[in-house]
Amino acid sequence: METDFAGRRVLVVGGAGYVGSVLVARLLDAGAHVNVLDQLVYDNGFSLQHLLDDPRLTLMRGDLRDTRAVAKAAVGCDSVALLAALVGDPICKRYPELARQVNAEGAARILDSLDSLGVERFVFTSTCSNYGIHESTSLADEESDLNPQSLYAETKIDMERHILTGARSADCVRTVLRIATAYGLSPRMRFDLTVSQFARELATTAELLVYDAETWRPYCHVRDIAKAVMTVLAARPDAVRGEVFNVGDEAQQFTKRMIVEEAQKHLSGTSVEFREGDTDPRNYRVAFGKIADRLGFRVDHTVQDYVPALISAVQAGVFCAADEKHYGNYEVRHLS
Ligand SMILES: NC(=O)c1ccc[n+]([C@@H]2O[C@H](COP(=O)([O-])OP(=O)(O)OC[C@H]3O[C@@H](n4cnc5c(N)ncnc54)[C@H](O)[C@@H]3O)[C@@H](O)[C@H]2O)c1
Repeated sequence: METDFAGRRVLVVGGAGYVGSVLVARLLDAGAHVNVLDQLVYDNGFSLQHLLDDPRLTLMRGDLRDTRAVAKAAVGCDSVALLAALVGDPICKRYPELARQVNAEGAARILDSLDSLGVERFVFTSTCSNYGIHESTSLADEESDLNPQSLYAETKIDMERHILTGARSADCVRTVLRIATAYGLSPRMRFDLTVSQFARELATTAELLVYDAETWRPYCHVRDIAKAVMTVLAARPDAVRGEVFNVGDEAQQFTKRMIVEEAQKHLSGTSVEFREGDTDPRNYRVAFGKIADRLGFRVDHTVQDYVPALISAVQAGVFCAADEKHYGNYEVRHLS
């Protein structure tokens, strides 16, 4: 059963995104009031359209780098979940200066304002990509060396360090979540993420080109990511203050070849070409025991269940080619 958020007001910065729109709905279901600050960078405001007649939801369009917009959005909020960023290696590579300004500098300014805004809880969505290449027989845990392979991961690590410095003495309880690669249906669908991309391409064209098929990655459903954020917001302060938690499930780690095979179980006559030497060398498997042991967090979803559901949705024509530009972080449209 969902924790009761009645009487709480949560600011979700980036609440119109792939993860954010799922988190906002889940917070409302749990009884929270929710403020969203989002610049709708990808023209993605449609993701919250179905929730906007709920009087407990307030959507404010604005840039997280604008301290006045943040202060206004945080009025009355006991908690802030910072999701907004330029998310993913390709978009950060394409807009490096913006990525630094938003993901590291702007995010740090939000953190620095929390105590004066009277915010009690802060959750930051970081990424397991920070482990980069972890070719060890052991799983990467929260104490493992970080080995960023992209500007995206570098900006996330910058922000993590800023959060953890002084976290024990700050009034606001700060927590970092290093999240596995997301999959799952969301009102703001992204097909630039491995599981959904592979399943959709195989279901539409029956063809797929896959680089570095033997590289490993953990995966986590968007609803489970939302659940993890809420688990932290509801936890005892001393259990999460200044802590880093990996978010995912040890049984939900796959090579790219395994994801292809999962899709092929539900599709016949597909053709897949495997090549070596992509520009994305990430390869890591992660330990998720800390969040399970300390906060009792368990995932509710699996890639195995999701893939056939996505294939059915694709085959039913749910995702329209005319909307393609919305289905991923390809081009920044409203940020400069
Ligand atoms: N999707 C994943 O696989 C994944 C995995 C690990 C961690 N995460 C983290 O989860 C968070 C959410 O990811 P997502 O997949 O929902 O990304 P997303 O790109 O779908 O959502 C990001 C949202 O932030 C908004 N935004 C961007 N820059 C902004 C700015 N300057 N001011 C205000 N709003 C701005 C965008 O409009 C968008 O709505 C990110 O912090 C990401 O690093 C995601």
